[in-house]
Amino acid sequence: MNAICRKNRCYIRPLVYLGYGEMGLDPTRSPIDVAIAEWYWPPLLGSAGDGGGIRTTVSSWTRIDSRALPPQAKCAANYANSGLAKMEATAAGYDEAILLNSIGMVAEGPGENIFRVKKGVVSTPPASSGILRGITRDSVIRIVKDEGLPFERSDFSREELFTADELFFAGTAAGITPIREVDGRPIGTGTFPITHRVQQVYQDAIHGRAAPYRRWLTPVGSTRADEARRAATPL
Ligand SMILES: Cc1ncc(COP(=O)(O)O)c(C=O)c1O
Repeated sequence: MNAICRKNRCYIRPLVYLGYGEMGLDPTRSPIDVAIAEWYWPPLLGSAGDGGGIRTTVSSWTRIDSRALPPQAKCAANYANSGLAKMEATAAGYDEAILLNSIGMVAEGPGENIFRVKKGVVSTPPASSGILRGITRDSVIRIVKDEGLPFERSDFSREELFTADELFFAGTAAGITPIREVDGRPIGTGTFPITHRVQQVYQDAIHGRAAPYRRWLTPVGSTRADEARRAATPL
């Protein structure tokens, strides 16, 4: 972690793959190789993510179904589906896509999970809706509960996107990003009080400013004693 980090910030992408060996379709005897890339990467959805929110569209591409590929894995093949949705959205002038699953319920973004706020209740689609259960989604669920906000895992429809008080995306690269518009329809009042509250706690957590979440972090260059202390700290 050095020259390509900026202001002590960088993105780390480990890639685990089946290496040189079998050229056919059953590579299980090939060696497992790992590569780790790191580089400075500004927020995936741009600065709009921090401020007034982004503009989205419901994709014409359906989120991959678990009968075809395992959507819970960050498997390279799955990203063809994500890429198609993203390219379609940006070509149409939107910041990001929202994908529906094969029964027409909301699944997620191409690289983010989605949350809905309605009458103070925060919800997100369950794993059974064919989503990738992202680590940021888990973090948001934890923060929402710790903040004492009502929370449920529940399916919601395209129509319920339009009637939400707030919508936001959550992902490692995107952070927590308010959604201000879906297919030209403004979401709620455009002020996002709950999203901003969760966003603030999340920012404090990932920058080590929130003691209750410090265990989520692995300080680079920490000693074994530091690690043992961290592991012993109750959440
Ligand atoms: C399809 C999809 N959903 C959700 C996420 C968010 O996952 P995480 O919070 O682990 O970054 C990602 C991240 O790559 C993703 O590709």
